[in-house]
Amino acid sequence: MRPVEIKDGVHWIGVIDWNCRNFHGYALSSKGTTYNAFYIEDEKKVIVDTVSKSFEGEFLCSLSHLTELEEIDYIVVNHLEPDHSGCLATMVERCKPEKIFVSPMAGKAIKTFFDCADWPLHVIKPGEEVSIGKRTLRFYETRMLHWPDNMFTYIPEEKMLFTSDAFGQNIASSERFVDEMGKEMVVDLMQQYFANIITPYAPKVLKTLETFAGLNLDLDMVCPDHGLMFRGDDVALALEKYAEFANQTPKNKAVLFYDSMWNSTERMIKAVASGLASEGISVKVMSVKANHHSDIMSEVFDAAAVVIGSPTHNNGILPGMADALTYVKGLRPKGKIGACIGSFGWSGECVNILKEWLEKMGMDIIEPNIKSKNRPDHDELKECFQLGVTIAKAVKEKTGK
Ligand code: FEO
Repeated sequence: MRPVEIKDGVHWIGVIDWNCRNFHGYALSSKGTTYNAFYIEDEKKVIVDTVSKSFEGEFLCSLSHLTELEEIDYIVVNHLEPDHSGCLATMVERCKPEKIFVSPMAGKAIKTFFDCADWPLHVIKPGEEVSIGKRTLRFYETRMLHWPDNMFTYIPEEKMLFTSDAFGQNIASSERFVDEMGKEMVVDLMQQYFANIITPYAPKVLKTLETFAGLNLDLDMVCPDHGLMFRGDDVALALEKYAEFANQTPKNKAVLFYDSMWNSTERMIKAVASGLASEGISVKVMSVKANHHSDIMSEVFDAAAVVIGSPTHNNGILPGMADALTYVKGLRPKGKIGACIGSFGWSGECVNILKEWLEKMGMDIIEPNIKSKNRPDHDELKECFQLGVTIAKAVKEKTGK
């Protein structure tokens, strides 16, 4: 794609990864993604971030429409993850920049990514300002949002904030701004991104939002490194939604994810779902065979209750459940109600193992954890239905709705 001038003298020079479906090797990106990078034309010529190495040719071609590489003076590295620093070594070699701005944590970590002993690194002080002519670059450290090295770069004269992964969404599109797309879809994609990448750092997000509210920055444009950018009134939408996501306010919703061998566990799960739905709770029934762990996490994210199910298999649980549980637990969703069920043939360890997973995730466990030998009979399915009703009452108590 050709560059897009997003403000007078400020250009989007990102690339579009139309075919990306496996984001960073663990999350689904069913609509593809973009790697956004920026070029600022001033007395100093500045690049903010680069793109994934696999798009280096496109990136350099795009930039060549605006400048000779040798004319670039400054490179800002808001984030070291390779989807944004993939072309950094080439850029340093070709541009021979006067300075490369990195956060204090990136100043330490960059040596482990690059042979950069002779690079002109400038480790910023949080809040530090650098004049580039008519404009100023101001750097804010945003440690653990979502890596230790992350920082934001602000241009006060343009009221623009470059936010790295924060506020990003995985979408490949020719549109560059949220107002050119359906807002609802963008918010949904931003939530999916948050759920799968940012959730463990939700407290850090709240703190960062609080800090930025205190700074009272004039903001006319927020430019994340993935997906669409926010301008005008949409800036407030981005900030409001991020606060909402970071608070992890649960909805009257339950996610039931499970694996099953001969449908016994599946029938039990469906009976629990039926009990929940009979009390007006929105349910998502998700077999781990039919749903990627990333989609499961996206649904778990705003649910008040999580019900998990697996039969006993080789004195454990089915491997597909272990995968989904490892992924969801790693993202540390907060404030959930949990319950578990499972069928078994002879040894029957499943529910104890599932309960341990719920405990490790800090969920408020609703008993009984029901297990059924070989196939659930009518009474056991009624018990599962009743468990759903009990969970529904706890959900309503939690959400107050
Ligand atoms: Fe988009 Fe943390 O990299």
